[in-house]
Amino acid sequence: MTPEGMRAKGTTPGATTMHGATAGTATTTQRATVQGPAARTVATPAGPAAGTGPAASRAGAGPAIRVDGLTKKFGDFTAVDAISFDVRYGEIFGFLGPNGAGKTTTIRMLATLMPPSSGRAVLNGFDVVHQQVKVRESIGLVFQDNSLDDRLSANENLYFHALMYDMPAAEFEPRVREVLSMVDLLDRRHAIVRTFSGGMRRRLEIARGLLHHPAVLFLDEPTVGLDPQTRAAIWEHVKRLRDGFGVTVFMTTHYMDEAENCDRIAIIDHGHIVALGSPEELKASVGEDIMSVGAADPQALAPAIAARYGVEVNQGPDGLRFDVKDGAAFIPRLTADFPGQIRSVSVHRPTLDDVFLQLTGRAIRDEEASGLDQMRMHARAWGGGRR
Ligand SMILES: Nc1ncnc2c1ncn2[C@@H]1O[C@H](COP(=O)(O)OP(=O)(O)OP(=O)(O)O)[C@@H](O)[C@H]1O
Ligand SMILES: [Mg+2]
Repeated sequence: MTPEGMRAKGTTPGATTMHGATAGTATTTQRATVQGPAARTVATPAGPAAGTGPAASRAGAGPAIRVDGLTKKFGDFTAVDAISFDVRYGEIFGFLGPNGAGKTTTIRMLATLMPPSSGRAVLNGFDVVHQQVKVRESIGLVFQDNSLDDRLSANENLYFHALMYDMPAAEFEPRVREVLSMVDLLDRRHAIVRTFSGGMRRRLEIARGLLHHPAVLFLDEPTVGLDPQTRAAIWEHVKRLRDGFGVTVFMTTHYMDEAENCDRIAIIDHGHIVALGSPEELKASVGEDIMSVGAADPQALAPAIAARYGVEVNQGPDGLRFDVKDGAAFIPRLTADFPGQIRSVSVHRPTLDDVFLQLTGRAIRDEEASGLDQMRMHARAWGGGRR
């Protein structure tokens, strides 16, 4: 399959599109539900760098996503319960929560794949219920489960995606080169996906999500089941999308350490948003920093610190320990107040684990993938998991 296979359509210059998406090709992508005028084309890139960017974005006209009281019920069960939040253009916004919290259900509603039971969401200025075609044109989607066709090459997978979007034929070549370069897969363009590692598949899915220059890219658990090095590489790519191309990224994760990479995080549990803010704000809101101070004379220094700052000082394994609000800012004050008496200072900051624990009374497992995730990982590794 090559771009030459694209059918010329229309009589006016520029009206040549990658028309021809049919039910037969729809199985290769999850965009089967995309509908729209046949001659629809993709907007000209206008991002900060030439190429992928919020090409069709309406930056300046409001947030990239506005969610207001969005709810999804399955029978009597409320999977997403009246959530409200905004996502700004150009930020990496994370949904952090345990299995079954409602992350994927939220993405499905925002991506027009599932109607909300109530509430409202506006994406890139378009209502997700009443302006579905406009919303679909505005988004790229990377699903939680593998959605590549293993038997095809990277190029062919991208080609079918372009068909679904009626991408102008002349744009296919430069865009494929652009998005594959972004994820460092250009040299594997014509390799069969079956030969790709898990990380390469994920990068290819991200590239595919970007092919039509969406304003907002949804990444549902983009790194689950991948090894730490590959996860870090995926994050590098995601940050590059934001910094170099201004793409707005909405992603879900249940990895605490990964959520730290987001500009802002909504913590979701049982369909409710229990906290929202930058990682620093969230951590600062629930816990103080833990100071560990090595002293020349701990017996004398402990009561002096306690008296001076009104804190409780304990002897810990690595020195005197006490809590303060902002440990980094406190260090200069401490060393100035007790000159010559302090040998070392370290600060332990509360983690997002501490935040989730404090808010819900439970811990999100972080290190170990759950059985469900392991099944997904397995399916991904073997190229399964397509819906
Ligand atoms: N089509 C459906 N019918 C009935 N219940 C559903 C449906 N889809 C999701 N649910 C339920 O809604 C809840 C939220 O599911 P969702 O897939 O959104 O969770 P999630 O946060 O994405 O979890 P994970 O981390 O496992 O991906 C779960 O209890 C799930 O079983
Ligand atoms: Mg999910």
